Amino acid sequence: MGQYRTHVFVCTSGDTCPTQGDVEQYVKYLRGEAAKAKLHADVRINKAGCFSQCGWGPMMVVYPDDVWYCGVQASDLQEIFDSHIVGGKPVERLRYRPGVKGANKKPGAH
Ligand code: FES
Repeated sequence: MGQYRTHVFVCTSGDTCPTQGDVEQYVKYLRGEAAKAKLHADVRINKAGCFSQCGWGPMMVVYPDDVWYCGVQASDLQEIFDSHIVGGKPVERLRYRPGVKGANKKPGAH
């Protein structure tokens, strides 16, 4: 286990994710929620470069759980925060499972 209980990476500087959602705002929102919940010492929200999974964005990854999310919309952030980041339960409908046919929802399809 590292410095943080939960470490979240949001792809903010690749070629496609930033064109598929306001990912800078996603980072601000999640940081704000962590601060409100007084989890800033336990939960770290970082901007990240490309995950080399372009086209499935906006993407984010939660460690140490190694849970990848794809097609994340602003309206999904509260659920990810409450269920996964606070509650430890990944949001299954948004999980990215490369190579698993039919497992991934089309980005932006809500
Ligand atoms: S731009 Fe986000 S995975 Fe490549």
